[in-house]
Amino acid sequence: MNKLSRIVLATLAFAIGITIFLRSGASALAQGQSANRPWMDKTLSPDRRADLVLREMTLDEKIALLHGNGMPGWPRAVPNANPYLGNGGAGFVLGVPRLGIPMIQMSDAAYGVRSSAENGRYSTALPSDVAAAASWDTQAACAYGALIGRELRAQGYNMTLGGGVNLTREPRNGRTFEYMGEDPILAGTLVGSRMKCEQAQHVLGDIKHYALNDQESGRNEVNVIISKRAMRESDLLAFQIGIEIADPAAVMCSYNAVNGDYACENKYLLTDVLKKDWNFKGFVVSDWGGTHSTEKASAAGLDHEEPMDDFLGGKLKEAVESGRVSKAELDDHVHRILRSEFASGIVDDPVKKSVVDVEGGLETSRHIAEQSTILLKNDQGILPLDRTKLRSIAVIGPNANTSMISGGGSAQVDPPGFGAPQWKEHVWFPTSPLKAIAAKTPGATVQFDSGADRASAAALAKKSDVAIVFAYQWTSEDFDLPSLSLPDNQDALIEQVAAANPRTIVVLETGSAATMPWLNQVGGILEAWYAGSKGADAVANILFGDVNPSAKLPMTFPRSEADLPHPPLLTPPPEERRGGRGEGKTTFEVHYDEGLKVGYKWYDAENKPVLFPFGFGLSYTTFSYSGLKVSTGGEATVSFTVKNTGSRAGAEIAEVYAALPTSAGEPPKRLVGWDKVHLNAGESKEVSVAVKPLYLSVYDESSDSWKLVPGSYTFMVGGSSQSLPLVKKVNLK
Ligand code: BGC
Repeated sequence: MNKLSRIVLATLAFAIGITIFLRSGASALAQGQSANRPWMDKTLSPDRRADLVLREMTLDEKIALLHGNGMPGWPRAVPNANPYLGNGGAGFVLGVPRLGIPMIQMSDAAYGVRSSAENGRYSTALPSDVAAAASWDTQAACAYGALIGRELRAQGYNMTLGGGVNLTREPRNGRTFEYMGEDPILAGTLVGSRMKCEQAQHVLGDIKHYALNDQESGRNEVNVIISKRAMRESDLLAFQIGIEIADPAAVMCSYNAVNGDYACENKYLLTDVLKKDWNFKGFVVSDWGGTHSTEKASAAGLDHEEPMDDFLGGKLKEAVESGRVSKAELDDHVHRILRSEFASGIVDDPVKKSVVDVEGGLETSRHIAEQSTILLKNDQGILPLDRTKLRSIAVIGPNANTSMISGGGSAQVDPPGFGAPQWKEHVWFPTSPLKAIAAKTPGATVQFDSGADRASAAALAKKSDVAIVFAYQWTSEDFDLPSLSLPDNQDALIEQVAAANPRTIVVLETGSAATMPWLNQVGGILEAWYAGSKGADAVANILFGDVNPSAKLPMTFPRSEADLPHPPLLTPPPEERRGGRGEGKTTFEVHYDEGLKVGYKWYDAENKPVLFPFGFGLSYTTFSYSGLKVSTGGEATVSFTVKNTGSRAGAEIAEVYAALPTSAGEPPKRLVGWDKVHLNAGESKEVSVAVKPLYLSVYDESSDSWKLVPGSYTFMVGGSSQSLPLVKKVNLK
């Protein structure tokens, strides 16, 4: 062996020795840690880890996990809790530092992280949740959740209060924009995809508001009356599907009562259905001030009270000490919180604040807005606009020069540098339609008119090649729309502009459906919803054909309020006090006697024509459907061919509906699946949609279970709930 070889060998031996020494040192350290804190062993299951830590906890430490400690602006704080321990979010929970259990920092995050400007931070505003539902796209929903999860962590939060999935039973509900439309299978699938990806960023996920909080009017004092079958097949089914997909850490129980018991102390909802039937392993958190009792709520399955400790603080401790609440019941609440903390990764990967990826967020927000904006009308191919031919464009509408509206309440995302918005303030996001349109048409004159003076707006429209009116409808938590008409005389504005120039395009920025008395007078309509931080660029990309629209309505647009199941919105009796959070008394009932007939199921069953049907949306190309095959046996599979028959590439959301046997006593049809198919001009693809047995089942109240009714099923396939060219009947046993 020469000298060089000896040196190489000696160096190698030294390096190996050092590695072995370091490795054994590190593992000794790790063993030491897990010997002291065996629950820190990541190889154990979340349930095992929770059991191990639970054994070490004192009663006070357990109780501390079961309630919040106040929130900014809440009139009171929990005595002895340091309000500065919060992160500026809606709630915080003290951890158990001596056992390595972190604090929970919660933030509202419906379409982005709330209160960021107020806290000197920044958040991306995504398009509203109902817009995300209009994409019918699970990948877009996943990107939506992942972005929010990342931004929550960057801002120091480890729990989201997002994930609203109340069904659009009442389109005047002021929170419709926070939810995912009127169909339980669409809404449940999308909220599940969103929350799965949000939680994968290592935050505690949450799906809300469980259940039947389908209107804001009198939300703290309304008793919703509904049959078991109707709720299981509608509102609860959306939660069931979402929870199965996402396995969220938490479910937030709602303010209202259901069949006599407040949702946060409703044993049927929380224990029988959620925890037993669906096998939900996470914890139930009350909506803010939605807890009304100690023993009843605890026994019914409420695990955690927010934002205070009125019922699950000292009173719960006393109830445990005196034996009125068993140790096992207490430990179950605590176990659910701990196991969710381990399962979501917030213990092993503690939050560290960082800089939000602003540009990445804007890009995602624009992309989702493009997939969410629906082309509702396109007479004589007025859209896409031809930028080589246009010489003059009128851009009309309040703030169309600077910004687009956003949805309010606890969902509100702050525009950058805005400061703290007031409750119910109309917040306009700095994304300028005027600038986005001008950027597309350097050769044209682009002029703005706010529409405040209708005659001046009409005069501008008259002398322009095309008029684009940006119309809005502002909605928020804590308030329902008085009607579906656009506010502030915008109908009159649109009528006058369209009379001056029939080449008028209306871009709707709405949180819910809107009525359109001017429908036949305008050339084109886009539904852009609340389009988020990059809404104007997304809309301009669609107006000028750089993006081919593909979104479809996740809710029916009715012709008028008279066609709704409950034409006058039911409100609390006038003599009663409103908004009595925590008063614990219901003052009126809403009977959801339309039952199973939610959204399109209602209009179908009642033979009521609509303005735009569920599932409707146009493209700049056209599609044809052929070759329907249905195979049964286990899961039903529906196959068919979609062809792009136009001259440009596009994506079609192909929808599959089923009519159940007559003996099932169901509305005429239900959505049972869909696929989003991307096709080049002239291209065709065979699509296969698997239909889960649950989606064809009915809820049988007498046996408290789901049943497949034997008989003849009609499968229907097409581009909207009212355009279903392919039909096939099959018998299912
Ligand atoms: C809302 C919840 C929200 C909570 C905390 C309540 O008023 O209903 O959706 O998460 O406040 O801000």
